[in-house]
Amino acid sequence: MVREGDLMKKVAILGATGLVGQRFIQLLSNHPFFEISVLAASDNSAGKRYSQIVQWHLDTPMPDKVGQMEVQRCEPNFDCDYVFSALPSDIAGPIEDEFVKSGYTVFSNAASHRMDEDVPLMIAEVNLDHLNLIDHQKTSGKIITNPNCSTIGLVMALKPIMDRFGVEQVHVVTMQAISGAGYPGVASLDILDNVIPYIKNEEEKIMTESKKILGKFKADHIDFADFDIQAQCNRVPVQDGHMLSVFVETIQKTCVEEIIESLERFCPLKGMNLPTAPDRPLIYLSEQRSPQPKLHRNLANGMSVSVGRLVQISQKRFRFVALVHNTIRGAAGCAILNGEVYESLMER
Ligand SMILES: NC(=O)c1ccc[n+]([C@@H]2O[C@H](COP(=O)([O-])OP(=O)(O)OC[C@H]3O[C@@H](n4cnc5c(N)ncnc54)[C@H](OP(=O)(O)O)[C@@H]3O)[C@@H](O)[C@H]2O)c1
Repeated sequence: MVREGDLMKKVAILGATGLVGQRFIQLLSNHPFFEISVLAASDNSAGKRYSQIVQWHLDTPMPDKVGQMEVQRCEPNFDCDYVFSALPSDIAGPIEDEFVKSGYTVFSNAASHRMDEDVPLMIAEVNLDHLNLIDHQKTSGKIITNPNCSTIGLVMALKPIMDRFGVEQVHVVTMQAISGAGYPGVASLDILDNVIPYIKNEEEKIMTESKKILGKFKADHIDFADFDIQAQCNRVPVQDGHMLSVFVETIQKTCVEEIIESLERFCPLKGMNLPTAPDRPLIYLSEQRSPQPKLHRNLANGMSVSVGRLVQISQKRFRFVALVHNTIRGAAGCAILNGEVYESLMER
């Protein structure tokens, strides 16, 4: 499966020194068909050796080759085939626009372009058909975004339920890890021994992005899904892994067994041989105390969403808990998988 020489695609990482940027580096080192050719960050970091300026936060060592690379400015003059963006949302928009105008294909984690009408907001297993929106982008390059980290966990769990039973309404309460705020993120005095019941813009993102992702592709736009959704977001003192307590009302009557069967069978990318795609995107854990961030966030290298505590309230009303690794499936891993799908479709 490993490609050789010219068949390898060169990729640049924007925001390479941040928490999501570091995940990109971790997941892309030894990738069978992407190789890192450029690391870019702010002007403060540009011109310096990566190992000199990064605060490395991952529990695997920084790859030697990456540590030696000189960090570049985020300017569209890179020698690369694809750009992965992990820039802060408040500055990503214009920088990503410059890359797209200059002919680069950008896979972005930032919120700036997620809700643009001609931009796919994509989770490869959930709405691959939305990729067709790029045909309506008038630039020589293209942009494909991935959703907010909590939204990814929620939507992945809802997708098989929606396809089989329909969804009338959803209420989600999140317990989000501190790494979700980037580095240095939340001050330790604010979060230790504490829960903060507010994360700026997070509730709005979950409520709007979910309807776009679960909406229907209609030639040049998405018809947003029509269900009621409420979200309440909390920051909790967990390092990685966002937990979601979900209430869902289905349109058709169903039962716990049928829902678990739908979650476990969910594997739309089967047969595509994509290196980052997990065999089981959704894993149902029947043990009462599951899922837990510490124990389950790294299932399938952090690419599976784990679901547990599914309880039937009435014929159409259920509650469950879902867990998503926020910097892997919720960010870098989702973007890389989108890149793999795109690359394999381009090849055909
Ligand atoms: N953390 C998560 O769990 C998560 C999940 C999903 C999506 N996201 C999204 O992913 C993006 C990155 O998040 P993060 O958590 O990795 O943030 P972060 O740790 O704060 O990292 C930000 C990165 O952006 C660079 N940067 C800052 N200002 C810049 C500028 N003016 N020009 C160029 N580069 C600049 C920083 O470089 P310097 O080191 O040089 O300042 C750093 O590399 C955000 O849009 C975030 O919303 C994050």
